[in-house]
Amino acid sequence: MSPRPERHDEPLHLWAERLEGMLRARELGIVDRVAVLASTGSTQDAARQFASGRPGLAVLAGVQTAGRGRLGRAWSDDEGRGLAVTVALDGERWGVETLALAAGLAACRACERALDRYALGLRWPNDVVERGRDGRKVSGVLIERDGPLALVGIGINVLHERRDFPPEIRDRAASLAMLGCGATRLDVAESLLVELDRALGMGPEDLRRAWLKRDVLFGTRRTFIHNGRPVSGTVEGIDPASRILVRTNYGNVVSLPALSTSMVHE
Ligand code: BTN
Repeated sequence: MSPRPERHDEPLHLWAERLEGMLRARELGIVDRVAVLASTGSTQDAARQFASGRPGLAVLAGVQTAGRGRLGRAWSDDEGRGLAVTVALDGERWGVETLALAAGLAACRACERALDRYALGLRWPNDVVERGRDGRKVSGVLIERDGPLALVGIGINVLHERRDFPPEIRDRAASLAMLGCGATRLDVAESLLVELDRALGMGPEDLRRAWLKRDVLFGTRRTFIHNGRPVSGTVEGIDPASRILVRTNYGNVVSLPALSTSMVHE
C-alpha cells in the first residue's frame, strides 16, 4: 500500500498558544482557558476532570480513543483526523435545549466558514450534514450535565479520507477535506469557539431562526425511532425545546424529544 499523504495540520504544541491568543484578542465570554491534550479517551471526561466545577474551559484532543456520541454511540478518532472539543459551560445559565441549538449552529457555521455556505445544513437535533437527501454527516454534538456544568462536546470531521471512517459509517460520513476544504483542525477549532460564543449570545428567536434556515429535514418524509418504536411521517418543524414535530401517516402531529429519538437512514 502506498504511504498515506499527510494532510496539513499544525503541530499540537501550537494549538494552545494560538487559541489563547485568539481568546485574549476577542474576549469571548464563554471560554477563558484552554487545555490541549495529545490523546485522551473522551474530551467530555477530561473536561469534567479539569474544569473542577468551574465553567469556561475548552478541552481539545489531538487523538480521542473512546469518544462518545449521542444515544450511546461511539465517536472515536484514533488517528487524529477530526476535531474533538468539549467546552464546560454554566449549565444554570443555559438550558440544554438552548445549548443543543447553539452548539449545532456553531458547528455548522464553523464548517461554513471553511466551505461554501450552502453546501451544508443541520439535521435535527444537531448534526451538520451535506445538503440533499441523506447527506453525509460532518459534525455531531453531545451535551452532558455534570452538576452545575454543561459539557458541550462537538466533533467535526476535518482531515479524514473515506477509509479513515469505520466501514459501517463510510457511506454516511464525510470530512471537510473530502468536501474540498483545506482548513486545518486548528483553523476549525478557532472558528468553532468564536461561533459558539456568538450563538450563545443570540436571543432565543434569532437562534431558532438561524437554525431553521439551515434545517434539512423540514417537509421531508422520515422514520424516527422513539422509545424503541418507529414513527413515520412528514417533518413539520422543530419547536423551541428542540423537539421535532412529525405529522404521522394517521394525520396527527407528534412531538419527539431529542434525548430519546433517532432517525432511521433509509
Ligand atoms: C453524535 O453525533 O452522536 C455526537 C458526537 C459528539 C462527539 C464529540 S467529540 C468531542 C466530545 N467528546 C466526546 O466523547 N464526544 C464529543
